[in-house]
Amino acid sequence: MAAFRIGLLGHGTVGSAFEALLESRAEAIEALSGSRPEIAGVLTRSRGDFAEILERSDLIVELIGGVDPAREYVRRSLQAGRHVVTANKQLLSRHGEELWSLAREQAVLLGFEAAVAGVVPVVRVLRDSLAGAHIERIHGIVNGTTNFILSEMTRSGCGYAEALGEAQRLGIAEADPTDDVEGADAAAKMAILARLAFGSPVHIDDVRYEGITGITSDDIAYAHELGLSLKLIGTAERLAGGISVRVHPAFLYGGHPLASVNGAFNAVTVESAAITEITMSGPGAGGSQTASAVLGDVVAALAGTPTLAGPSERLEIVEDVVSAFYVHMEVDDRPGVLAQVAQRFGDTGASIKSVVQQGSGERAQLMLVTHPLPRSALREALEAIAQLEHVLAPPRAISVINEEFV
Ligand SMILES: NC(=O)c1ccc[n+]([C@@H]2O[C@H](COP(=O)([O-])OP(=O)(O)OC[C@H]3O[C@@H](n4cnc5c(N)ncnc54)[C@H](OP(=O)(O)O)[C@@H]3O)[C@@H](O)[C@H]2O)c1
Repeated sequence: MAAFRIGLLGHGTVGSAFEALLESRAEAIEALSGSRPEIAGVLTRSRGDFAEILERSDLIVELIGGVDPAREYVRRSLQAGRHVVTANKQLLSRHGEELWSLAREQAVLLGFEAAVAGVVPVVRVLRDSLAGAHIERIHGIVNGTTNFILSEMTRSGCGYAEALGEAQRLGIAEADPTDDVEGADAAAKMAILARLAFGSPVHIDDVRYEGITGITSDDIAYAHELGLSLKLIGTAERLAGGISVRVHPAFLYGGHPLASVNGAFNAVTVESAAITEITMSGPGAGGSQTASAVLGDVVAALAGTPTLAGPSERLEIVEDVVSAFYVHMEVDDRPGVLAQVAQRFGDTGASIKSVVQQGSGERAQLMLVTHPLPRSALREALEAIAQLEHVLAPPRAISVINEEFV
């Protein structure tokens, strides 16, 4: 039987797991597809020559990561008429349109299931299974490291630094966790999900993001009293006038499907009138898990799956989104302070849903949850509240996601 030759770029955590998985599954894939997949060459910084590997391969698996030189290798592979499978969210969130367009021109597959949410098959579900649904909104926990850190802070009551240290000790966080904890990794994944869901080009620069480095264990503990749990949530939604794609910490009520997703797991909730809501969850990273998603795309290429269709429309990015918010204030507990705070929200047309106070006297903690209001109105209200005589420090706000599905 004919061999199907795979050039493997990168042989780190995922690349080496992919080679091992391919070896153990080669026979089953041969039975399924009629071709026996085999590694035609491996490229690392110290091994292999790209041009030679490309020449010998039917398909290139790119597991180097980052933009350069991955972009050049993927481009050259597609131009040479080779299928490409990649797990590289940085590359696709910046240069996806150029590369998908090249793949369409060459009638080859550019597979990227592993670039978002690891082994959770969200790319294929959005692209194929839900192609008939008009998707209105996606909420995702798409970064396992930050979900582990927040889960750990909730479970043990420890602070951010301690939870990050534990994640690093367990190999869940990298030595330099910046991209994960500041939200950039999740932003890249949400750009790709939004592109799939809405058929509109979305670049990572269109995604506003904020990470979890400013979260305190107090935020988590106080909100718990209001029935809320804290997650780093990516949102992609249709709004009047366009779409919004963003990543920030958000509180969820217990009824939300993502509220119970803990540890280094990923989960994505998709909402559409036609389907109500579906949630997919599973390990978001890990060598063998990610390798399995990569191998799934290799099999899809063998089966002749076409690459992603071109954008169907170009939607505007909406900045001023509406949300409910949790607001934390430190106040000098005098009669009338709460009324003054409520008045400042009222001045912007917003109202308060629930309030909790802890302590009394000169340094009381006042936590409240607002009804939904535009982010610009929240900013205005917080600026006015910060000016109040008995508010001791600038108030802090975190989004609250209101939906519950029954
Ligand atoms: N790790 C995960 O759990 C996970 C999950 C989902 C997606 N991903 C994605 O999978 C991809 C690979 O991640 P990884 O964790 O396997 O990375 P990794 O362990 O750092 O491995 C990277 C590999 O690429 C090679 N490489 C780096 N720069 C190169 C260059 N200029 N030329 C040739 N080879 C080069 C490295 O070579 P040397 O061996 O010579 O250093 C190494 O073999 C990334 O896009 C990542 O975002 C990873």
